[in-house]
Amino acid sequence: MTVEEFGTLRNGNIAHLITLKNSNGVEVKLTNLGAAVVSISVPNKENKFEDVVLGYDSLSGYEIDAYCLGCITGRFANRIKAGKFELDGHVYQLACNNGNNHLHGGLSGFNRKLWKIADQKFNTSESVTFLLTSEDGDQNYPGKVELSVNYLLTENNSVEIHYSATTNKPTILNPTNHTYFNLSGDFTRQIVDHLIRIDADFFTPTDNESIPTGEILKVDNTPMDLRDFVKIGDGIDEDFNQLKYARGYDQNWVLRNYDKRIKEVAEVYHQNSGRFLKTYTNQPGLQFYTGNSLNGRAKGKNEIPVNTRTGFCLEAQFYPDSPNHSHFPQPVLRPGEKYTQTTVYQFGVRSTSN
Ligand code: BGC
Repeated sequence: MTVEEFGTLRNGNIAHLITLKNSNGVEVKLTNLGAAVVSISVPNKENKFEDVVLGYDSLSGYEIDAYCLGCITGRFANRIKAGKFELDGHVYQLACNNGNNHLHGGLSGFNRKLWKIADQKFNTSESVTFLLTSEDGDQNYPGKVELSVNYLLTENNSVEIHYSATTNKPTILNPTNHTYFNLSGDFTRQIVDHLIRIDADFFTPTDNESIPTGEILKVDNTPMDLRDFVKIGDGIDEDFNQLKYARGYDQNWVLRNYDKRIKEVAEVYHQNSGRFLKTYTNQPGLQFYTGNSLNGRAKGKNEIPVNTRTGFCLEAQFYPDSPNHSHFPQPVLRPGEKYTQTTVYQFGVRSTSN
């Protein structure tokens, strides 16, 4: 692991850039602003290494970013209806920063914070731990939360993300990683030529503001059925209300047999490059998002505009708006308990089409 200065924030604080490398030549760069993934360089089938995640060339891009590129979102990733939830008889009102609703922790969520880099002696050479204290009342969430997020690059080309957190008062917590992947390594290209598989028999449909209706529906005979590989471009514009509301994929899939243990849950394959990405998690849900609201206004790496559908996210999480649906798994954390999440993004190549 190496640490260098990434730049100076508008408030004068310095953010850092951390580099992890393994013996296969895979390189992962991260910043402590938002505990974000900045780049992941992995080989294609001709052993050409390319960066496969959307991001910015400089710190200022991350500082003004509106899309959560690469970062850890929270306290509550995804949406909470009208920014309101009730816990132990208290009603909490959060900021409505996405139309009528709360999204990704509010106006100054985890993505806007400068995390501490944990003492290097706790890290192996291929791992870094970011620490954050979110004070009682931060963005109106109750309880002081101490959160740590450890990124580990392994020899099998996996980026493992290990989260742990405690609180001093009952609260809700649902962080996720919001990396946008483009396995072609060419950020001018849409990800519509990638194939996706998600091991889920059900999804949580939403209204036209992307708020779950509370139903848990079968994926059968809908474009939400991704149990066998589907080309993203074949499904994304189908005549289906969920896809129309979100202008593409942006839904939560109900992962099978939620028992808090880590399982393989999804795979994306890009035939031209041969690259694949497998996702493993111990979370109950997975938001598959195809970058529908990226609009080209921000300049990404190499000055390439961050355009619609040029990246996809696989956000392991509790279901959206779960605090308002008691039959969904609950993202509640109480004093004395420990929140843990492990999500793994594993990269590989296949030289054939299967
Ligand atoms: C959400 C999208 C949102 C995007 C950027 C995703 O996690 O599901 O609806 O546009 O984040 O905030």
